Amino acid sequence: MKAVEDFLKNHSARFLEELKAFLRIPSVSAVTAHQGDVRRAAEWVRDQLASAGVKAELIETKGNPIVYGEWLNAPGAPTALVYGHYDVQPPDPLNEWKTPPFEPDIRDGKIYARGATDDKGQMFTHIKSVEAWLKTEKKLPINLKFVIEGEEEVGSDNLDRFLEERKQQLKCDVAVVSDTSQYAPGIPAITYGLRGIVACEVTLHGPKQDLHSGVFGGSVANPCNVLAKLIGRLHDDQGRIQVPGFYDDVTELAPEERKQFAALPFNESEFLRELGSPAAFGEAGYSTLERRWARPTCDVNGLTGGYQGEGPKTIVPAKASAKITCRLVPSQKNEKIIAALEKFLRDQCPPTVRLEFKTYHGCPATVCDIHSPYMKAAKAAVKTGFGAEPVLMREGGSIPVVGTFKAVLGVDTLLLGWGQNTDNLHSPNEHFSVDDFQRGIHASAALWAELAKRG
Ligand code: BES
Ligand code: MN
Repeated sequence: MKAVEDFLKNHSARFLEELKAFLRIPSVSAVTAHQGDVRRAAEWVRDQLASAGVKAELIETKGNPIVYGEWLNAPGAPTALVYGHYDVQPPDPLNEWKTPPFEPDIRDGKIYARGATDDKGQMFTHIKSVEAWLKTEKKLPINLKFVIEGEEEVGSDNLDRFLEERKQQLKCDVAVVSDTSQYAPGIPAITYGLRGIVACEVTLHGPKQDLHSGVFGGSVANPCNVLAKLIGRLHDDQGRIQVPGFYDDVTELAPEERKQFAALPFNESEFLRELGSPAAFGEAGYSTLERRWARPTCDVNGLTGGYQGEGPKTIVPAKASAKITCRLVPSQKNEKIIAALEKFLRDQCPPTVRLEFKTYHGCPATVCDIHSPYMKAAKAAVKTGFGAEPVLMREGGSIPVVGTFKAVLGVDTLLLGWGQNTDNLHSPNEHFSVDDFQRGIHASAALWAELAKRG
């Protein structure tokens, strides 16, 4: 691996310039006006894979193209499937960015741009490590397949069909995804569990249009008032979700796992200072890490209804709505949870308003085997790249494809996050430490050799 290491050192400046070029493409999947940019980003990834020495093509879907690449010249060695996404979240609110989101800027050793960590910068590390192997050793120690999609930030609608249709072609021993975070600065991590999610929107309809609240107020129900009451009933004062059956299938944390969580360094007052919250709150009987990683939630993401403009206005609004997501933990069933939530809201809703319920995307929670040989390989590779033993952790966020890999391809995913949760992913001033970028490339280069040893 000496030649690979040298190549990485000698080309690190160029890698950073290439990442900047990638970050200049505003591949925002949520915004139709960016469709051309989204395609340009896909082509850019394809060309990068090709110039690294990987056979690569664009595969068209009903939505954004999927970049598929493969290098399969290590007969008998294991096959890993690398997944990542080239699309990014919208950069809004624009005026909160210190430098424009699609003009990457390096300050204090960090590269600032939308997608820097989520997921362009993290995903790119795997392309660069492969380039280093193929340009020096002329071969990889294992077989690799790449699936880089462009709809992760809008729910991966077309990915499941692609995986189903190409099940044979995508056959592999393990999946590799760098789209999570380290535990903290100086504490790299391997994530072995993610929460799942169900998403919905509930709308309460009252009068056919907004009414004068003096003339009519008090004689018909106000949808905003009713919605506030329904939302208020979702939890008790101890943070327990009140939807009947919600906790029925929840797999409780094993005492061993609780001990592992508790052994991780965690400073609650520092955590609160970082978030700007005055106090911690959550389901009684669980620690903050347990609440974030292994307990289900029910959160209102947005509330609308009535007058939102400046100054007062006196109306009984025609309608009110709430966008709600529940984060799920292992063994909870998406369909069951969403049905239970809808039933609860309908049961609680008075006949004075009409309730409309709409379901969005979802995915189940996942937990991977922490004792697999691939997990051991990943630990060794992260240690090589980051100079410290990784901790094992779970995460509260969701990556829908991880469950699909298990269901369709039958494989576990190694979640190797090179970023930090404080890198402002989905927020203004998203960034990625240049050191973490370089360390990620080293860890990735080491991973291919470690997987070959343990396959
Ligand atoms: N990369 C994130 C998920 C993530 C971030 C996991 C940090 C762990 C640590 C991913 O791109 C994301 O934002 N996923 C969405 C999925 C949803 C839209 C289905 C999420 O978790 O909200
Ligand atoms: Mn994301």
